[in-house]
Amino acid sequence: MVSLVVNGCTDDPPTQGVPSVSAQATSPRPATPTTTPEPVRLPEDAPALSDVIPAPESARPAKDDNFALTKQSDISVADGTRAAGDYLADVLRPATGFPLRVVSGEDNAGGIQLLLREGGDPQDESYRLEVARDGVTLSAASQSGLFAGAHTLRQLLPADVERGETVDREWVLAGGVVEDQPRFGYRGAMLDVARHFFGVDVVKRYIDRVAQYKVNYLHLHLADDQGWRIEIDGWPRLTEVGARNEVGGGKGGFYTKQQYREIVAYAQSRGVTIVPEIDMPGHTNAALTSYAKLNCDGTAPPTYTDTKVGFSSLCIDKPVTYDFANDVITQLAEMTPGPYLHIGGDEANSTKDADYRAFFDKVLPMVVKAGKRPIGWHEYAKANVPRSGVVQYWRIETADAPTRRQADSGRRVLMSPADKTYLDMKYEESNPWGNSWAGAVDVRTAYEWEPTKELAGVGDGMVLGVEAPLWTELVTTEDEIERMTFPRMQAIAEVGWSTQTKWADFRQRLAAQAERMTAQDIAFHRDSGVPW
Ligand code: ACM
Repeated sequence: MVSLVVNGCTDDPPTQGVPSVSAQATSPRPATPTTTPEPVRLPEDAPALSDVIPAPESARPAKDDNFALTKQSDISVADGTRAAGDYLADVLRPATGFPLRVVSGEDNAGGIQLLLREGGDPQDESYRLEVARDGVTLSAASQSGLFAGAHTLRQLLPADVERGETVDREWVLAGGVVEDQPRFGYRGAMLDVARHFFGVDVVKRYIDRVAQYKVNYLHLHLADDQGWRIEIDGWPRLTEVGARNEVGGGKGGFYTKQQYREIVAYAQSRGVTIVPEIDMPGHTNAALTSYAKLNCDGTAPPTYTDTKVGFSSLCIDKPVTYDFANDVITQLAEMTPGPYLHIGGDEANSTKDADYRAFFDKVLPMVVKAGKRPIGWHEYAKANVPRSGVVQYWRIETADAPTRRQADSGRRVLMSPADKTYLDMKYEESNPWGNSWAGAVDVRTAYEWEPTKELAGVGDGMVLGVEAPLWTELVTTEDEIERMTFPRMQAIAEVGWSTQTKWADFRQRLAAQAERMTAQDIAFHRDSGVPW
């Protein structure tokens, strides 16, 4: 579930340079039209009602019902719908140059109306978007549904709407009704800010970019051997020492608590929930180098800037290990409104099996006590995973007995098979950039797989959703982040959202996204399987 952020919660539009309601009050708006406007022609570059990624469940066009957004259009927000209304205003204002005032009320004449169905299930992400000549109505049972519908509405405007400056043109949406709901409740992206650090602005842009494809979770990999990226009270050396480093020896960095909260709030304003990860008990050299007392022999190892895995472990027998884990977990939980906290658990090759279980027997209850559902990489399936726990499968083998056992006993599985979803893999063998241990992952490979058939015994009803991780051993710039992410992210987002997935159809809709991505300055990869 996406919890609501009360962000920009006044009638004043949050964007600078746009007149506020009070500033406009002196120049009365034209009276609300009482007659239905004449039909408007759909410009050639306007998307058809079904030209959306992820593919909607149903789109019924009505060609006489195209809707023209104008400078008089308001966004009317009924109770509980303001966050999605503010989001729409925020993304549609720059290119249209229209005020798009976000006003309380239930009148959509000449504008966009957002409605929240009463008594709806907050987990229900379904929405109905009706585009008619006299206005657009978006209704949903939850905040998440409203955001999903808002993302659809955004994509129904011509690609010019993604430009950062005003474009003087008509803004017409194809008429008709979209009724839509997701296949899976969890559609995630993951950004590794530990191997290479990326600042708040880069993370915010990443959120913006993935959110438009109805990605509703961003998992932040906040600590690894090479760097610790989040301030924790009582453990200052994590950021004084552990953060000042990254792969290749760069200067690294970290988020203050305030910056982390800023990221969380920004994500919420885009309908995205942050899932923070602290990887334990392996992948912990940055913590071990910060505090000698966390090491069994009381000696801090040197900082680490290479990319090998599996050599570090917290000291399982020392009580201070659990003071540390508890402080990290409770403080992260306190800053994170979303339901999940990721505890890592992968590649703990230097932790004996019995120690690994003993560690998680102590640590997983801390996550539950902090009010969160634990997620762990699937190696933690061999531990005692709480009933609320989620197992994230990341390997390429098509069977894993511990994961299957957890699924059989009711734990949900998040699917991130590396040979389909890992955004750090090369697109093609011949590409100069990317990892290759899981094989090349071109867009078609990222698209043509079935999350409930990927892993033996983990079928319908057991899969929570899909997530596309971007590991950053080799990724050093925002351009590289974008090139590795797009357009594979659209493929995985559609796998997670849509019931009907057809490559021949998807590749056409994806090609049409080139103009939108270009307008957003996204440095995407022109995968050879797509008719750009
Ligand atoms: C992983 O790729 N080690 C989760």
